[in-house]
Amino acid sequence: MKNFQNKNELSKYIGNLKANGSSIGFVPTMGALHKGHLSLVDKGLSENNFVVVSIFVNPTQFDNQDDLDKYPRDLSADISLLQTASKDKIILYTPTVEDIYGNHIVSQSFTFDGLEHEMEGAFRSGHFDGVGTVVKRLFEIVTPDAAYFGEKDFQQLQIIKKLVELHQLPVRIVGCPINRADDGLAMSSRNERLTPEHRSVAPFIYETLNTAKSKFGTKSAKNISEWVTQQFKNEPLLELEYFIIADVSTLKPIKRKSKKTYRAFIAVYAGDIRLIDNIALN
Ligand code: PAJ
Repeated sequence: MKNFQNKNELSKYIGNLKANGSSIGFVPTMGALHKGHLSLVDKGLSENNFVVVSIFVNPTQFDNQDDLDKYPRDLSADISLLQTASKDKIILYTPTVEDIYGNHIVSQSFTFDGLEHEMEGAFRSGHFDGVGTVVKRLFEIVTPDAAYFGEKDFQQLQIIKKLVELHQLPVRIVGCPINRADDGLAMSSRNERLTPEHRSVAPFIYETLNTAKSKFGTKSAKNISEWVTQQFKNEPLLELEYFIIADVSTLKPIKRKSKKTYRAFIAVYAGDIRLIDNIALN
């Protein structure tokens, strides 16, 4: 597996592959790889000759220094996991902060037709400016034909689609389903920081989403939200930050049910670890 730290060397290598007619898939990540990340790599490999995987813990998308400092980093474990996929077809890019940002670690300011103000945008100030900045820069370096993003971060996926549309970037964005542990907890790099007690109650998040989904046919959104709030009051190890039922295209909270497509979105603290999840409702 080739591993580049330098954007110019990577661009040159990819340029040669493309000149020979190869297609390039791209999976941007922040490392601490797990099966969820691998599912995106597999999807990329099924559609392209090569897949570039970037591992870069992007400082500008963290609104909390402690979260950035404690973000799990283990490059050798990540490389071992990637070796289990088709390693000859994977190109790893592990840039330094300087390779991406030079001496100015700042994000560009974006608007995404209002998507950036909802949910994660409201609770994590500047987060989507940081994501937009790094993903746009990575697209310029990697010049992929297609890029793969998980529905685990559904709002991020919609924002990247909007970034591509508004800036007319020549890349196809592919959304991929949420990969879960056997007990239903959505795979996440942050899960490895959970205490055993928090890890054992964390599947309650997906259980609650599933029950909310089963209620969606007959109950009002307000009624479901109140029920969810009550469930978390009864679970002292988990603290609900938000539960929102929203229209998938605008991400605006539901007012009155209509023929639109809705998803339920949730953010929960397990101790100081913040977990997010979501589920399609109709
Ligand atoms: P990271 O959290 O490492 O996630 C990288 C990609 O893996 C994202 O597209 C995310 O949605 C996807 N992913 C994570 N857990 C998943 C799961 N359980 N099932 C399916 N896909 C999953 O998201 C980021 O990094 C960053 O914001 C990034 C896009 C790399 C920009 O810095």
